[in-house]
Amino acid sequence: MFKILEKKELSPGVFRMVIDAPRIAKKTQPGQFIIERVDEESERIPLTVADFDREKGTITLIFQAVGASTELLAEKKEGESILNLVGPLGKPSEVAEGIGTVVCIGGGIGVAPVYPIARAMKEAGNKVISIMGARSKEILIMEDEMRAVSDETIVTTDDGTYGIKGFVTTALGQLVERGEKIDRVYAIGPVVMMKSVADATRPLALPTVVSLNPVMVDGTGMCGGCRVQVGTETKFACVDGPEFDGHLVDFNALRTRQGMYRDMEAEAEKEHKC
Ligand code: FES
Repeated sequence: MFKILEKKELSPGVFRMVIDAPRIAKKTQPGQFIIERVDEESERIPLTVADFDREKGTITLIFQAVGASTELLAEKKEGESILNLVGPLGKPSEVAEGIGTVVCIGGGIGVAPVYPIARAMKEAGNKVISIMGARSKEILIMEDEMRAVSDETIVTTDDGTYGIKGFVTTALGQLVERGEKIDRVYAIGPVVMMKSVADATRPLALPTVVSLNPVMVDGTGMCGGCRVQVGTETKFACVDGPEFDGHLVDFNALRTRQGMYRDMEAEAEKEHKC
């Protein structure tokens, strides 16, 4: 059992939980994720580790309550426990000194997984420019944290309630226009956002890494549930990823696969609410 030490609602339906998990905290690196199961009845869901504190032995999870399993997790209170946490899983981000200028883009709740990458890139001595996108100001999360680890932070909102009115690609375009020499781009967020970033950086030959979060079951490469098409190869996001070359990912196939599970998810949510 893993105890929930802190719980906070960051924006409507988006929660931050600090969980006592010393063995996972000790080994976790930026880019990795865990699979959690709230209780015997619930399904396993992958969540990227948004932060970890090796000394305190804690990990931080940020998630949106959008389906039966995440709603069940959101119902848990401080002091209660989660049945299973498995991790860290997946390959860590390739963090190194001397990369140069790294643009870290987080869309919506994607800011949470991009945060430890931005922090590690900064600690390694790289210049970090962060772009945070949200539909509107009240659902923007982790702005202070991102500003603290970035040389420059740009916020975009779809409705123009804060920062630049537009999308993360609007801000990225402005960086390119002003002649910023960009050495690597990380883009984490909704599939449509990651695709837009990859489409924008491909003609510019800007190396672009995306982090994929397809449906996962075992997290060990055995079930095939998380398969994604990357170039000519079929990869498993849980063991080969979750990060991949954004210019090679077949985002259309990924969206189709995600859609296949939507009806099942709606059914599970209905049962959960009954
Ligand atoms: Fe089963 Fe990746 S979750 S193969």
